[in-house]
Amino acid sequence: MEQLPCLVTRVPGPRSQALARRLERVESPDVTYLPEDGSWPVFWESGEGLAILDADGNRLLDATAAFGVAILGHAHPQLAAALADQAARLPHGMGDVHPTRLKVELAERLAALAPLPEPSRVLLATTGAEAVEGALKTACLATGRPRVIACEGGYHGLSLGTLPVTGREGFRAPFRDLLPVPSRVCRVPYTREGIAALTDADLASVGAILVEPILGRGGVVVPPPGLLQDLRALADRLGAVLILDEVFTGCGRTGTWFACQHEGIEPDLLVLGKALSGCFPIAAVIGRGSVMEAWPRSTGEALHTSTHLGNPLGCRAALTALDLIEEGDLVTRAAELGAVLGAGLTDLADAHPGAVLQARGRGLMQALVLREAGAGARLAERALALGLLTLPAGAAGEVLQLTPPLILEEEHVHTMLELLDRALASLP
Ligand SMILES: Cc1ncc(COP(=O)(O)O)c(C=O)c1O
Repeated sequence: MEQLPCLVTRVPGPRSQALARRLERVESPDVTYLPEDGSWPVFWESGEGLAILDADGNRLLDATAAFGVAILGHAHPQLAAALADQAARLPHGMGDVHPTRLKVELAERLAALAPLPEPSRVLLATTGAEAVEGALKTACLATGRPRVIACEGGYHGLSLGTLPVTGREGFRAPFRDLLPVPSRVCRVPYTREGIAALTDADLASVGAILVEPILGRGGVVVPPPGLLQDLRALADRLGAVLILDEVFTGCGRTGTWFACQHEGIEPDLLVLGKALSGCFPIAAVIGRGSVMEAWPRSTGEALHTSTHLGNPLGCRAALTALDLIEEGDLVTRAAELGAVLGAGLTDLADAHPGAVLQARGRGLMQALVLREAGAGARLAERALALGLLTLPAGAAGEVLQLTPPLILEEEHVHTMLELLDRALASLP
């Protein structure tokens, strides 16, 4: 499939709009954003590389990697072949009872890959939120202390176990009565000053510090220099477990295998998801052996497992994706093309000072910070109409985030910048 945008109808076109009306009648109303003017979304039919074909036959350029998952682009032929082969052999197993060889291989691979200071152990999961919950349980077992430090603006999922640590009140408010006592979480700003201001009362009973090494959904906020080192030092001082949530940043996105490597720190637990398999729902906690060994040996009734844990399709996809990231040297590519994209976004910020405050990011996790709340969605809508898929981010929706597949070429970067320039120019 050709990769650059080619529009044959208005975007969204009539078929996408008709599908939106059907969905509106049957899906739980909060899930898909379906504005009345039909300006969002498009319905995807197929994909190849960076190209998405929508229901109307429009070819769109994907600068989202579908929430950062499709790190190898869409429908990568080797990944598709591996999944088809696995589906024909054994698509589902008994993860914690009679596992597959693939689960062994993936656990070995992840344990060897993680930048941890001692031999590691792995806990697999299906979603990012479930893996974060596994990490929080691990920290509680390892320290015997229930309280967690988590950052304002941090995003760790929307399950009941992660809502208390996701740093956005709007997600939590309707469910406040369902959640554990608020005092279990000490929320701090994503700044060194915020950490320095923590009092002894704040730090009492803290067993875990949970942080993203770049706030992703929170608006692609790169940590101020020294922040992650301060959190590492604080965890050491408290004897707490430092959990780095690299669900978004992991597997090469920021130009290193893990974003913590930009900061020269080692976590106790590292959480991966999204890009780990390039397509299939699988996530993992990789932890220092001494911390993970806080879990008791299973007596046949695992304290923490689930039906799809270690699913063979997910393990096979992850093993294949990790091979392809290595073989394609995609981590270096993310650093190199990320620099080109970042420089181009800075030029756009200079060219549109009325709309854009700044560009920021690392590797292929980049963003434009806009001046107005809600402008991220407005710009994403304009970009979509021109054939470019992007996403809004940030607590006030003031950010446009770009997290394209790592297989992109420089030509794609230039097209993305050109379309964004036009989209910015069309903002009222
Ligand atoms: C950093 C981070 N952690 C956790 C999650 C939750 O992952 P999932 O949506 O797979 O539950 C996300 C999802 O965007 C994320 O960005």
